[in-house]
Amino acid sequence: MKRIVILISGRGSNMEAIVQRCAAEGWPAAVVAVISNRPDAAGLAFASAHGIAAAVVDHRAWRERAAFDQALAQAIDAHEPDLVVLAGFMRILGADFVRRYEGRLLNIHPSLLPAFPGLHTHRRALQAGCKLAGATVHFVTPELDHGPIVMQSVVPVQSGDDEHALAARVLATEHVIYPQSVRWFVEGLLVLGDGLVRQREGRPQLLVADAAPPVHR
Ligand code: GAR
Repeated sequence: MKRIVILISGRGSNMEAIVQRCAAEGWPAAVVAVISNRPDAAGLAFASAHGIAAAVVDHRAWRERAAFDQALAQAIDAHEPDLVVLAGFMRILGADFVRRYEGRLLNIHPSLLPAFPGLHTHRRALQAGCKLAGATVHFVTPELDHGPIVMQSVVPVQSGDDEHALAARVLATEHVIYPQSVRWFVEGLLVLGDGLVRQREGRPQLLVADAAPPVHR
């Protein structure tokens, strides 16, 4: 049974999707803890309601980033995780933290990496006139929003989209590709080598969401 710890900062809808699919599909795994850097993260209530240990490591309590990272690592390690999942965790983590969990630290980012690392991805994709957008699940490396790609989803950008409409379309696919990626990890189906990730059975590491017809006015 693989032990999963999920880090959140807010809503936690990706965390919910992982918890629900893990239970519904009987993965050889359990989400043993949800940890937030913000005491007001809505996702904490979901975790508690589902009997999952919910904890807060408030980043504001530490002046130094490294001290916060250490406190966070301590809280994580108390649960002896096989996998640490960043699900809307909005703090930058230092290189020491990332190295500690090398090969067992996953993140989801709402863009088609390596395009648009950082914040406001949907706004930037719209400003750039992108016709496609999406999300990326990747192993975390010390470089922000960078690292071996496990799975990507692709959605069309519709004329008339604002960043909220685009974010919602991408988020719906995040709820598919993140649980799928975590499932492959706990089943030992992800093979990491030379900075690339292969799915052992050759399953597609890509989700192309149905393209609704473009709006013509
Ligand atoms: C998701 O869209 C996730 O991809 C993004 O934050 C949202 C969290 O939603 N993550 C990042 O931007 C990380 N760089 P959720 O809390 O409902 O899962």
